[in-house]
Amino acid sequence: MEWGMKNRMSQLIQPDGRCFFLPIDHGYFQGPTTCLEKPCRTIEPLLPYCDALFVTRGVLRSAVKPENAKPVILRVSGGASVVGRDLAHEALTTSIEEIIRLNATAVGVSIFVGSDYEHESLMNLADMVNLCEDVGIPVMAVTAVGKELEKQEARYLALSCRIAAELGARVVKTYWCKNFHRIVEGCPVPVVMAGGPKCETELEVFEFVHDGLRRGAIGVNLGRNVWQNPHPVAMIRALRAVIHEDETPKGAWKMFNSLKKQKKLRS
Ligand code: 5RP
Repeated sequence: MEWGMKNRMSQLIQPDGRCFFLPIDHGYFQGPTTCLEKPCRTIEPLLPYCDALFVTRGVLRSAVKPENAKPVILRVSGGASVVGRDLAHEALTTSIEEIIRLNATAVGVSIFVGSDYEHESLMNLADMVNLCEDVGIPVMAVTAVGKELEKQEARYLALSCRIAAELGARVVKTYWCKNFHRIVEGCPVPVVMAGGPKCETELEVFEFVHDGLRRGAIGVNLGRNVWQNPHPVAMIRALRAVIHEDETPKGAWKMFNSLKKQKKLRS
């Protein structure tokens, strides 16, 4: 691996081999998502506890201070919306010059395997890999399921992740599901878990993250279950302990409950 690629990968994946990416990219197809109406307010208190931010260039420019940013994974696919005909109908949104200008540590591209736009989204990934490999920037593939959340099962996700890796993704982001190890076993590059819609309880989040790590995931790219929680700082700190300190789900839950009572962490 070239020095630049290696350096960027090591900014994303910490010395313990784990990572916590914080996605704030939902507005690119959902508009002003609950708790992301003012992204800068969401990001600021959480920034110290994540290893990288996953954002579009619009949020990066308007909500993140260049002086004290964490490594940035720039979302570079888009062009569809929740009210449009098909969420899978994406293209590449950001040029390689812009990616370099914004000093992105990595970029993220969604793929929609099995959708009407499977081919286009896979070629978006392949095209971005060709551009980014030339300049030593890793591409993270996002295995998207559009509105069909029932696709969150191991056979389908293993297929998507393997295809993403074969096309050159350096990291693959997918959903946690039962038998998560089947995804990891079939994927030759590191796999991180997305959080999905907000869970009923915090314990559920700690449990699935812990299970995924035990089964070979290297970390998370987890948003709504952090910043839609009424105690986002307590939540990110407890989750960080699961990822970087091997905390148990019950231990993390105890930690969350104790942190949320601290006055300065309540916002
Ligand atoms: C949206 C994304 C998000 O980054 C991803 O889904 C993770 O966020 P969450 O934990 O809220 O699901 O790619 O397209």
